Amino acid sequence: MRLGHFDDQAREYVITRPDTPLPWVNYLGSEAYFGIISNTAGGYSFYRDARLRRLTRHRYNNAPLDNGGRYLYVRDDAGGEYWSPTWQPTRRSLENYSCRHGLNYTTIQSTYKGVTVRTRYFVPLGETLEVWQAEITNGRTQAASLSLFSAIEFCLWDALDDATNYQRNYSTGQVEIVEGVIYHKTEYRERRDHFAYFACSEPLAGYDTQREAFLGPYRGWSEPAAVERGESGNSLAHGWQPVGSHHVRLTLAPGETRTVIFVLGYHENPKDDKFDPPGSQTVNKRTVKPLIARHLQPATVEAAFQGLREYWRGLLDNLQVQTPDPHTDRMVNVWNAYQCMITFNMSRSASYFESGIGRGMGFRDSNQDLLGFVHMIPDRARERILDLAATHLETGGAYHQYQPLTKRGNNDIGGNFNDDPLWLILGVSAYIKETGDWSILDERVPYDNQPGSETPLYEHLQRCVRYTLDRLGPHGLPLIGRADWNDCLNLNCFSDTPGQSFQTTTNKDGKVAESVFIAGLFVLAAKELADVADRRGPAGEARRYRDAASRMEATTLQQGWDGDWFRRAYDDSGQPVGSKECEEGKIFIEPQGICIMAGIGVGDGRALKSLDSVKEHLATPHGIVLQQPAYSRYYLQLGEISSYPPGYKENAGIFCHTNPWIMIAEAIAGRGDAAYDYYMRINPSAREAVSELHRCEPYVYAQMIAGRDAATHGEAKNSWLTGTAAWNYVAITQWILGIRPTLDGLQIAPVLPGAWPGFSATRRFRGVTCHITVERTGPGNSVELTVDGVPQTGDVVSVPGDGRTDVKVRARVS
Ligand code: BGC
Ligand code: NOJ
Repeated sequence: MRLGHFDDQAREYVITRPDTPLPWVNYLGSEAYFGIISNTAGGYSFYRDARLRRLTRHRYNNAPLDNGGRYLYVRDDAGGEYWSPTWQPTRRSLENYSCRHGLNYTTIQSTYKGVTVRTRYFVPLGETLEVWQAEITNGRTQAASLSLFSAIEFCLWDALDDATNYQRNYSTGQVEIVEGVIYHKTEYRERRDHFAYFACSEPLAGYDTQREAFLGPYRGWSEPAAVERGESGNSLAHGWQPVGSHHVRLTLAPGETRTVIFVLGYHENPKDDKFDPPGSQTVNKRTVKPLIARHLQPATVEAAFQGLREYWRGLLDNLQVQTPDPHTDRMVNVWNAYQCMITFNMSRSASYFESGIGRGMGFRDSNQDLLGFVHMIPDRARERILDLAATHLETGGAYHQYQPLTKRGNNDIGGNFNDDPLWLILGVSAYIKETGDWSILDERVPYDNQPGSETPLYEHLQRCVRYTLDRLGPHGLPLIGRADWNDCLNLNCFSDTPGQSFQTTTNKDGKVAESVFIAGLFVLAAKELADVADRRGPAGEARRYRDAASRMEATTLQQGWDGDWFRRAYDDSGQPVGSKECEEGKIFIEPQGICIMAGIGVGDGRALKSLDSVKEHLATPHGIVLQQPAYSRYYLQLGEISSYPPGYKENAGIFCHTNPWIMIAEAIAGRGDAAYDYYMRINPSAREAVSELHRCEPYVYAQMIAGRDAATHGEAKNSWLTGTAAWNYVAITQWILGIRPTLDGLQIAPVLPGAWPGFSATRRFRGVTCHITVERTGPGNSVELTVDGVPQTGDVVSVPGDGRTDVKVRARVS
């Protein structure tokens, strides 16, 4: 069953009924001000950091789940009937409801009793504010006297404190209302220099800023007393729960349309000029007033919206493909690239499943996300790498995550994840391959943000390699530490106390448990760094990395091979994990993917054997599960992985992040049909047809699809913020379509499904637009290349040295 459809031309997903199985959401903003918006206008906004600078409130695990947001109410002043044009929160039956999620904007439209309201929400580029542009049309044959109410609930900035510290917070809320603008200034009187504002383009009939005055006692958002009465209370919040609500009266002639603009924003004042007049307790509004006035003008808003459209066109133009398959095209050209940009902005911090208060920017997460967005925003990728590297530690280890506002490492979430540092090498090498900007290696970057500790970025990478080599276990494999990529395989945790964090509890000294996954990752990263070192490192260094990689490769084959697949790990008593010897969890997906990506077993048939085992034991029609058999009980020595009921999350769920590793491995093994088949199994657009089962948005990847041991096999969860976005983008664009940046240029090495006659693509690469045509002329994967008609040796397009900015690339695959 479909609950909407793609509008490929407009690059929008159109949701045609409001009661989607889960909130189907979108993101607003792509620089400093962000919002999450659902298909019923639910969600919240924040400045830079969803925990520390939350503008509007979100209530966790609410019923209904999607409650609280950017709400409007329309009241028919003739009869007193009222409704929400975004369906929530009043949930009246609307006609012609549609929600169009576009690239950083959302438009929700509906009609009720002849009145049509279409509201577009977006954040203008360069601004720290959001605009709601509401267009109200009277489709009746008679004039309509209407009241329009807006409603938001302010968060008292620190979202965790806001949700938990009521004894204080019920007394701190403060606002000012001046010339119809509502200023939320809680804590401004003391250490904050920032405030929020909520403005409306029309003269007000009234306003409310105290929640209870607006809603009325014992009422929720579905029946605010002010709306029911048709009159605001003009309330001034002192403590309790500050809200923002404007009341506008409109009389519309038959057929008349009026636009009402609301602006919600964040503003900072200079510390020494925060009050006006100086010495008072009144917010200095001189700095913000012109900004507000400008954004209440329809012409400014329209121009800002066009600017946003242009911006996205520019980003997506970096790679556009035309393949025989519409699902592939729309994911690659629009939605997968878009999701990669969202993970760039959010990492795993704020979604409808990530609370925005638990996690910031993950070290391994953001380095992997980079693979999916570096070609669109190389400058910001560079900045991200330097921010991440500044949370690297002198030991070569890393903070597992940092807080976006402060850019400081955050220890609350735990450390000693022994895979973390290696991802930095992959991030940096992806950046250089894309941009050819070797200067990044000379950037001086501190450790743990400590001034004076700076070394060139290159030395950070050297320390990442050292970190692994200094921490080898009894089999010569890397010690796992807290965990590797799989946060839930906690081999040093041994927690038997309810509520203990698997992320921070350690009951073992960590000298025994080893990870085959890190071994594979090490081989991959050391080879990448060797290629970099060929040009940048001191003499002999590249060779040392290659030697270290081959030693680790040999150890992996010797100690990490189980006969038919790669083992996963060794636990604290030296017992294998992910082996035929195990009772449960005999085979895991991660080492099969990463080892083959690192080239381990590719020459000797083991890669194929491993992939055949994946197919036999792990593949399902909904994707490839993480391991089998699922853990049926809690294993003290394995940790969180066995805490999940079978089939969910890391315990044999289809943990989508890992699926593209197998797609890439299949491509490396030369099996285009298998790679593409796996790609299609989890492609969100292809799963649109089973929306009823899948339940999450059909335009973005979810972290997990329930595995075959689960009661709800095929049901997706935790959409949006997942490494799945970047890795699927890499798998389809770089390995299946085969358009792959390398240090030397742009490689064209497709491994296509057999039935495809070819495809075409436009790829901007280091200032050159490559118009690529790929034609299949035989059954294999060998490539013959011409560039502007000139046959090339090999399959790499080098950047022309003669100033050409457009080249025609033709590849014959046979
Ligand atoms: C989840 C993991 C996640 C970890 C982060 C666990 O509960 O299952 O997917 O990486 O939390 O802290
Ligand atoms: C989600 C986390 O963000 C990521 O870092 C981790 O690798 C996976 N879960 C697997 O546990």
